[in-house]
Amino acid sequence: MSLEATVVDHPLVQHKLTLMRDKNTPSAVFRQLLREISTLLTYEVLRDLPLTTKKIQTPMEEMDAPVLAGKKLVFVSILRAGNGLLDGMLDLVPSARVGHVGLYRDPVTLTPVEYYMKVPEDIGDRLAIAVDPMLATANSASAALTRLKEVGAKNLKFVSLLSAPEGIEALSSAHPDVPIYTAALDSHLNDHGYIVPGLGDAGDRMYGTK
Ligand code: PRP
Ligand code: URA
Repeated sequence: MSLEATVVDHPLVQHKLTLMRDKNTPSAVFRQLLREISTLLTYEVLRDLPLTTKKIQTPMEEMDAPVLAGKKLVFVSILRAGNGLLDGMLDLVPSARVGHVGLYRDPVTLTPVEYYMKVPEDIGDRLAIAVDPMLATANSASAALTRLKEVGAKNLKFVSLLSAPEGIEALSSAHPDVPIYTAALDSHLNDHGYIVPGLGDAGDRMYGTK
């Protein structure tokens, strides 16, 4: 099995992730930790953003100073749990555009059901970063990336918090052009498609719905 993903194993990320995994961590703390980790992940994911230069005047002299090149990027949240990563990303790139793909995973068939889609019209001209904390079977992520390509996205990355090896394998074979970033690669999926050891249901833990 070939596993194509960048694992962001910075000690701060790993420490915060351990706190998130703990079943006794309350929702408010869980959300705050997710926000903090997403900022750290974003820093790594955007490491290769292209730069150009512009002339500015410092108090000392004129210089050609580096600035980000191209159109502003787009963060795409895969609802609902993807929203937990958004604010931390926007803390780092406040001018980014935001898209949403609403999907939930049918608990029996584990297939994704789409209920919402809204992204910038010119997504094809921008780097689009799709985010969802959990990459389990990858059915949801794969469907979201397919939809984003259908509406024109050409330059995509996918960011998750936790991934199963099965999900990385499935997503990289369905979308070999999309680099995957994750904070941890866990052991396996259980019979219900949950990541083990994982952290449980990300949406429920964020919003206290179970
Ligand atoms: C969770 C998670 C992913 C999906 C991962 O969402 O946020 O979207 O499951 O599983 P997969 O890789 O097997 O598709 P869920 O369907 O629970 O919806 P929610 O975000 O609305 O809670
Ligand atoms: N969705 C989750 O929220 N958690 C898992 O472990 C798998 C899918």
